[in-house]
Amino acid sequence: MIRSVAVGLGERSYEVVIGPGLLDQAGERIAPFARRRRVAIVTDETVWGLHGAQLTASLEAAGLACPVIALPPGEQTKSFEWLAELSDRLLALALDRGDLVVAFGGGVVGDLAGFAAAVYKRGIDFVQIPTTLLAQVDSSVGGKTAIDTPRGKNLVGAFHQPRLVLADLDVLATLPERQMRAGYAEVVKYGLLGDFDFFQWLEANAPAVLAREPQALAHAVARSVEMKAEIVAEDETEQGRRALLNLGHTFGHALEAETGFGEALLHGESVAAGQALAFRFSAAQGLCTTQDAHRAEAAIRAAGLPTSMADTRAQPYAVERLLEHMAQDKKAEGGALTFILARGLGQAFVARNVDVNAVREFLKAEGAET
Ligand code: GLY
Repeated sequence: MIRSVAVGLGERSYEVVIGPGLLDQAGERIAPFARRRRVAIVTDETVWGLHGAQLTASLEAAGLACPVIALPPGEQTKSFEWLAELSDRLLALALDRGDLVVAFGGGVVGDLAGFAAAVYKRGIDFVQIPTTLLAQVDSSVGGKTAIDTPRGKNLVGAFHQPRLVLADLDVLATLPERQMRAGYAEVVKYGLLGDFDFFQWLEANAPAVLAREPQALAHAVARSVEMKAEIVAEDETEQGRRALLNLGHTFGHALEAETGFGEALLHGESVAAGQALAFRFSAAQGLCTTQDAHRAEAAIRAAGLPTSMADTRAQPYAVERLLEHMAQDKKAEGGALTFILARGLGQAFVARNVDVNAVREFLKAEGAET
C-alpha cells in the first residue's frame, strides 16, 4: 500500500510518498516537476551501485534525461570543498531553473544536494529519494539542508523545501542492520516527544519494524513522517515547536563530538543515548517520573541501541568537555543551555535556561569524569 503525507507549507507544500516499489514509479512521479525533462541525480557510490540502474530505468522510461553525480560515501562530502565540486559539476551539466536535482541517498547526500540546490543559481527545485530509515523519517522531510565546517556540524545551510519526497521502503532491505537501528532511534523519538500511543505501539512492534516486516515498517515510517510534517507545517524555521525534533540531540551531539562524528558512534546511536539521558535528566529534575524514564530507556535498549554514556564508549567522558559541546551547540542561545525535556512519555517540551550546574551534577552521576 502506498501512503502519502502532505507537508502543508502554502505554495511550497509537497507530498511525502511512502511505500514499496517507488523507485520503479520515480519517473512518472517526478516528471510533472521536471519542466525541461531533465534531472541531475546526486547520489553516493554505494547507493548508486545498489539501486542506480533501477532509478535510471524508471526516469528514462518517463522520458527524463538523468545525468548522475556519484560522490564518495561518508560525512566528509558535507563540506565546502564538496559543495564547490558538486556546484561545478552541476554547472558543467548546464543545469538550469526548470531542471531538477534529485537527491538519492541517506542524510549526507540529502543535506549536501539540498543545500547545493538551495544556492545553485539562487535556488533550483529538488526531489528527495531517501535510502536510509533515518533519512526517510527525518532528514529528507522539512527542508533543512546544510554542510559541516571544522567548527561543527550543519553550521552552514538553508531551509529549502523539496518538491517531492519518495520514501521507497523496499530500498531499506539492503540497509545494514546497524544503520537500521540508528534510524529507529529517530522513529522512537516521535513517540517519546509527542505520541504516547505510537510509543506503546513501538514497544510492541519494534522487532517487526527492525525486521522490516512490510506492514510494521510502513506504519512506523508513515506515523513518523506525519508527525514531522505536522510540526514542520506549524514551525518551518524552528522558532518554537520544531525544536522538539531535537529531543536527545543536545546530549547526543556532545557524545558524537567527543567520539569524532564517525563510525565509532553513529548519529542515530548518539540520539538514542541522548534521549535516554534527556528522560533521566527530566526525572532527576522532577519533571517526569523515574518509571517513565525507565520505560523510555527500555524501549530504546530493546532496539539494540545505547542508553548510557558507558554504552557508547568504554573510556569515560569528561564533564567539562561535554558541557563545552553543549554550549557550542547551535541550539544554545545566549549562553543558556536549551534542552528538550519531558513531562512524561509523549510529552516533550522546550526547556530554556537550563541550569548548567544541574547538568554538570547529572553528568557526574551518569559516570562522566571531573
Ligand atoms: N531533524 C530536525 C529537524 O528537521 O528539525
